[in-house]
Amino acid sequence: MDVCIGLLGCGTVGAGVVELVRRRTDKIEALTGSRPVIRRILVRNPDKPRAVPLDKSLLTTRAEDILTDPEVRVVVETMGGIEPARQYVLAALRAGKHVVTANKDLMALHGTELLETAAEAGVDLMYEAAVGGAIPVIRPLQECLTANEISEIKGIVNGTTNYILSKMTETGADLGEVLREAQALGYAEADPSSDVDGLDAARKLVILATLAFHAPVRLDQVTVQGIRSITAADVAYARELGYVIKLLASGSCHQDKVVLQVQPTLVPKHHPLAHVDDAYNALFVRGDAAGNLMFYGRGAGSLPTASAVMGDVIEVLRGIGLPQVGVRGPACLRRVEVRPDLVPPRRYYIRMTVADRPGVFARIAGVFGDAEVSMETVVQRRGGRASAEVVIVTHDVPLHQLQRAVDQVALLESVEAVHNVLPLETDDEVSDR
Ligand code: NAP
Ligand code: HSE
Repeated sequence: MDVCIGLLGCGTVGAGVVELVRRRTDKIEALTGSRPVIRRILVRNPDKPRAVPLDKSLLTTRAEDILTDPEVRVVVETMGGIEPARQYVLAALRAGKHVVTANKDLMALHGTELLETAAEAGVDLMYEAAVGGAIPVIRPLQECLTANEISEIKGIVNGTTNYILSKMTETGADLGEVLREAQALGYAEADPSSDVDGLDAARKLVILATLAFHAPVRLDQVTVQGIRSITAADVAYARELGYVIKLLASGSCHQDKVVLQVQPTLVPKHHPLAHVDDAYNALFVRGDAAGNLMFYGRGAGSLPTASAVMGDVIEVLRGIGLPQVGVRGPACLRRVEVRPDLVPPRRYYIRMTVADRPGVFARIAGVFGDAEVSMETVVQRRGGRASAEVVIVTHDVPLHQLQRAVDQVALLESVEAVHNVLPLETDDEVSDR
């Protein structure tokens, strides 16, 4: 039996989907009893060159050619953004079409509304590609790990920033230069500031935390710090101290109190997350029954992401054949309190530029001492003509105490700038406790 697919978008991911449907049509038919046929593809500009050869008659600029076509049973949304993607997905679901989407912005902001609409319509809405590119993380959290209480999720979930930080570490290049490479490779979002400023990772964290903790959490409850302030100097100091800088997204849940953070973090060189390079992603999950798990793979790019999209499409086709669609149930079973103030004490790295004259360091040390922030390591280098660069690594300290000390240091007349305050990951983060 032919099952018609309407594709919304034919950019990096959409073209990968077309390619994989072509390569795997026979296999998918053998596995599911349904033969996927791409019936129509929505694009903005039909004259644009495409990464896959396409019969022009497949392309349309009118969404209704797909959304109101009764032959289309599955809509694959790879266009991105919130509107009109949200309206199109809602229209498809209400028309009884199954939807597979790679759109984390949409799922992070409107996931509940869309999943409820899918449940009412008795159709599937699947979004494995929205987090972790090729890595299966959504379905393990939705299905395989549901017998667990998950207390922690932590990982590298943005390929673009991981690519940038890896290249900065390897070559000493600066951020702007490497961002252009990440864009050319198809990793970055249409507006790459959402990668660089941590928003893409925060959206993915919202999706993961909602599933892991079975509780609705919102984007505005995530503390977000991107990588824009990270310079080649931070990368070099981190290396000297035995660390690499990674953008980590983390969520913890203890007694219904949740902490959600995205921030550049110094990760010890021998830590498993330190070896996740380029556009690879990795997610660590701590479950009370399963113990610690790590998921690792390509987090962005055309075919890796299309692989996850097509995994969902094949699952939908299986359901159509059986039929077992629209039976996934709600994700959220409880309410939690999101408490950014409950970040546990940890070590921090602070880089600042100060006047290079006698007594300056003593004043900084005095402020830290008064705030009861204990220093573990201090590195000082000659900066400009009359300035010095100082890097301090603290012992474990509560965030509010550290913040008070840093705010006061920044007010010292001899401190020109505090450039970065970054947490350090401990060595035992992914070992069994
Ligand atoms: P992209 O390369 O920019 O492609 C977007 C496609 O959608 C283009 O074909 C564009 O048409 C079409 N489109 C966009 N807005 C449209 C509108 N209003 N009307 C009609 N067509 C429209 O984006 P992408 O990188 O493939 O990403 C697509 C989605 O997948 C996003 O949600 C993204 O976050 C997600 N995702 C991407 C990756 C990745 O590695 N790139 C990985 C995981 C998830 P034209 O080609 O005519 O401009
Ligand atoms: N821009 C995203 C990233 C694409 O770099 O991770 C994959 O979601």
